[in-house]
Amino acid sequence: MSTVTEAVASGPSAAVKKIAVVGGGTMGNGIAQVFASSGFDVQLVDQRQEFVDRALGTIGRNLERVAKKLNWESDRVQAILQRVRGGVSLEAARDCQLVIEAVNEDLAVKRRIFEQLDALAPAGAVLASNTSSISITELAAITKRPDRVIGMHFMNPVPVMQLVELIRGLATSDATYRLTEDLAKRLGKTPVEVNDYPGFVSNRILMPMINEACYALMEGVASRDAIDTVMKLGMNHPMGPLALADLIGLDTCLSIMEVLHEGLGDSKYRPCPLLRKMVKAGYLGRKSGRGFYDYTEAAKA
Ligand code: CAA
Ligand code: NAD
Repeated sequence: MSTVTEAVASGPSAAVKKIAVVGGGTMGNGIAQVFASSGFDVQLVDQRQEFVDRALGTIGRNLERVAKKLNWESDRVQAILQRVRGGVSLEAARDCQLVIEAVNEDLAVKRRIFEQLDALAPAGAVLASNTSSISITELAAITKRPDRVIGMHFMNPVPVMQLVELIRGLATSDATYRLTEDLAKRLGKTPVEVNDYPGFVSNRILMPMINEACYALMEGVASRDAIDTVMKLGMNHPMGPLALADLIGLDTCLSIMEVLHEGLGDSKYRPCPLLRKMVKAGYLGRKSGRGFYDYTEAAKA
C-alpha cells in the first residue's frame, strides 16, 4: 500500500477495506482496477464466468501497460491482481463495506440488483451506483438504507480520468457523502458534488452534444470524419463526439438520452433516430467491434 493511501486512511472512509463491484464491463473493470491499485480488496461480480474472466484479463493487460511505462518492480502487478477476486454471485457483497453497482444503464436491472444488495450487504455498508443518468433517489428508495445510497460516477476510461461525480439522492446522508468523497481522494481522483437530476451535470451537458453530432451525421451536414475533426481541431476536444460515443457505448448513450427525454420532458432531448437504428443493429461501439467506426481486426489491417 502506498504512503499516500495510508496517510489518508484515517479519514471518513478508514473503515472501508473491502469493496464489491457489480458488473465488470467497460466501467466495472476500471473501477476494480483503481480500487485494487490503491490497496483495497475487491470482489468483482458479473453474470457469467466468461464475463468475469474477460474483465480480469482487461485489468491485467492495463496494469502491465502501466508497469512497463513506469518501470514497476516485477511483482507489483501480481500483488494488485491478487487483491481482485472474481465471481458470479452477489453473495460476495456480504462482507464488503462498500458496493459499487456498474451494470448496464437499465432501471429494471439496477432495481433488481439494489433489492438484492440491500438484503445481502452489511447494514452499515454504502451502496453506490455508477449510473450515468438514472435517479439515485429512486434506487435509494428501493432499499431500507436510503441514507447510505449515493451516486459514485466514474468517467471512462476510469484509470485515466480525474473526475468522480458524486450524486446526492434526496435522502443521502452527509456521512455517506463524506465517506465517498474521502474514498475518491484516496484513489487520487477529484470528487465533485452534484444533486440528483436526470443526467446529473456530466451527461446533462455531454450527451446532448453527442446526440446532436448523430443528427448532423444523419442529416448529411458532414461526414463522420469531418464532424469529429471539427470538434477535435476546432474545440480542442481529445476525441470527436462520434468516436467518444463509440468509447462510451451507443446503447449507454441511447439509454442516457431516454432518461433525459423522459425526466426533463423537453423535445430537445429526443434521441436521434440514427442512434436508435445503430443500437438496434447491434453496432454498440468499441465493445461490440463496430459503431460509427470499425474496430475489428480486419478493419485495423
Ligand atoms: N484503460 C486504461 N488506460 C487507458 C485506456 C483504457 N481504456 N485508454 C487509454 N488509456 C491510457 C493510455 O495508456 C495512455 O496512458 P499514458 O499517457 O500513461 O501512456 C493515456 O490513456 C492516453 O492514451 P492514448 O495515448 O492511447 O490516447 P489518447 O491520448 O488519445 O487518450 C483518451 C485516450 C484518454 C481516451 C482521450 O482520448 C480522452 O480523454 N478522450 C475523452 C474521454 C472522455 O471524454 N471520457 C468521458 C466519457 S463520458 C463518461 O465517462 C460519463 C458517462 O456517463 C458516459
Ligand atoms: P457495459 O455494457 O460495458 O457492462 C455492463 C456489465 O454489467 C456487463 O459485463 C454485464 O454482463 C454486467 N451485468 C449486467 N447485468 C448484470 C447482473 N445482473 N449482475 C452482474 N453483472 C451484470 O456497461 P458500462 O459501460 O460498463 O456501464 C456500466 C454503468 O456505468 C452504466 O450504468 C453506465 O451508464 C455507467 N457509465 C458508463 C460509462 C461509459 O462510458 N461506458 C461512463 C460512466 C458511467
